[in-house]
Order: sequence, then structure tokens, then C-alpha cells
Amino acid sequence: MNLRGKVAIVTGSSRGLGKAIAIGLSKEGASVIVAARTEVDNRELPGTIYQTAEEIKALGLDALAIRCDVTDEESVNHMVQKTLEQFGHIDVLVNNAGIAFYSPIIETPIKRWELVIKVNLVGAFLCSKAVLPHMIEQKSGSIINISSLAADERDEGTVPTGVAYAVSKAGLDRLTLGLATEVGKYNIAVNAVKPHRVVDTDGMRLWQPNADKSLWQSEDLMVKSSILLANQDGKGITGTVATDREICTWHGLIK
Ligand SMILES: NC(=O)c1ccc[n+]([C@@H]2O[C@H](COP(=O)([O-])OP(=O)(O)OC[C@H]3O[C@@H](n4cnc5c(N)ncnc54)[C@H](OP(=O)(O)O)[C@@H]3O)[C@@H](O)[C@H]2O)c1
Repeated sequence: MNLRGKVAIVTGSSRGLGKAIAIGLSKEGASVIVAARTEVDNRELPGTIYQTAEEIKALGLDALAIRCDVTDEESVNHMVQKTLEQFGHIDVLVNNAGIAFYSPIIETPIKRWELVIKVNLVGAFLCSKAVLPHMIEQKSGSIINISSLAADERDEGTVPTGVAYAVSKAGLDRLTLGLATEVGKYNIAVNAVKPHRVVDTDGMRLWQPNADKSLWQSEDLMVKSSILLANQDGKGITGTVATDREICTWHGLIK
């Protein structure tokens, strides 16, 4: 239980990868803030912030659900404020909230383009900006950005992702490097991790109903990588942009 006593915010943890990471961090002893928008279950994409928090609590672990839209600065600041009121400190931020839009540029309405960039990139900027004053004051912290191979792929990769999504994740990788450089002196680690294969989540199944799922992976390597990165500060691993498999291989988490 390496994260005992630590407080971790996981954005986009009402379902999918974020939920798996939230549960993984809580099993390591962290108190987890389950931050996303969905409060009432909907059939298309099941999962709410309260369900994730209840699942964690049912394991005898600690979680707090706080509604948060990462594109809305007020909502982000409210989530961070509530976290501090409840726990007094923030040690880990996982910028996982993300959306995709699979369309050629010529068919992408500007509203869609802006929304993808807003959730995937601006959201990570807003959440990082909101937690950093507290991490800087306590002189420790770890920020983990959940990125994608789409940031670098020039063909359609294993699944077509759309250029808006690829641009947002390329920006997230660059944000990771820039932020790591800025906040290293405050003993804060900033890293990005991306799945080396598609992770089988409800979101992915909805967006890619006809994809060949035989090569899809579970959340396992992403959870292991996130736990390792959550344990870092500015003296440890920082400024890394890598896949889950790379991180797990380099650090002996898999053979
Ligand atoms: N699955 C993969 O193979 C894969 C591969 C590469 C990268 N990723 C990245 O991994 C992350 C999670 O993907 P996933 O497959 O788990 O997707 P998912 O099942 O669709 O989950 C996305 C999460 O993001 C949240 N979210 C969306 N918009 C939000 C907003 N404005 N504010 C706060 N939360 C928001 C959703 O919660 P609410 O709807 O409740 O707000 C949900 O919890 C994303 O960043 C994605 O780009 C996934």
C-alpha cells in the first residue's frame, strides 16, 4: 500500500479506464476523488461518479465523488476546493477525462473540433493549474496525463481516431514535457502514459462497434503504470511520455 495517506484526483472516473485507475490507486491506499459529470446512469454508457465511489467504499477503501466538468474552470476549481476541504491536501492528479470524434477533417464541425481539444487538452491544463498551487506549497506531487498513440500515428493505426483527437493528445504530450520542466523545481513529477493497444472500455465499444476486438487489452497495464507514476515526485520519474507496456517493462512490473 504505497499510496497510504495520499489523496488522488482521477478525472473521467465514472467509467472505463479512469474508473479502473481510481480503483487501482485506492487499493494502494490512496483516498480517491472520483471526478466526472455523470450522476445518473444512462443505458448507452453505464457508470456514474457515485457508483465508482461506492464500489471503492465497498472494498473498505476511501473515495469521494465530486461532479466535475473538466472544460469548465469554475467546476474544476470547485472540485479542487471540495477536495481540500475534505482532505486538506492533493498528492496525485490523473488527467484521464477524454472524448473522441472519428471523422475526416472535412466532416468535422468546428464545435466538435473545439470540444475534443477542450476536454482532452484544455481540461488537463485547467485541472493541473488548479492543483499546482497546493502541490507547489507542499513541495511534492504527481500529475499523470492519459495520452494515446494517436498523438504520433500518421496512418489510421489500429483504430481510426480522427485528427482532432490526435491533435489533442499530441498537445497533451507537449503539455506533459513543458509542465515537467516548469514544476520539477517544486519536486512535482509530470508524466504521460498511453495504452500500447486499445483498452476494452464501454466508451471504446460504443465508438468502435465493428472493430476487431481480438487485440484489445484490459486496463491492467494502464493501472500498473498509473500506480507507479502516482508514487513519483520531482526526484523520481518525470518528463516521461511512454506506453503502459514500456513503463511496466522498464520498471520491472512485467517480464
Ligand atoms: N480505451 C482506449 O483504448 C484508449 C486508448 C488511448 C487513450 N485512451 C484515453 O483514456 C481515457 C479514458 O478513455 P476510456 O476508453 O475509458 O473512455 P470512456 O469509457 O468513454 O470514459 C471517458 C471518461 O471521461 C469522462 N469525461 C468525458 N468528458 C468529460 C468532461 N467534460 N468532464 C469530466 N469528465 C469527462 C467520462 O465521464 P462523464 O461522461 O461522466 O463526464 C468518462 O468517465 C481518455 O482520455 C482516452 O482518450 C483510451
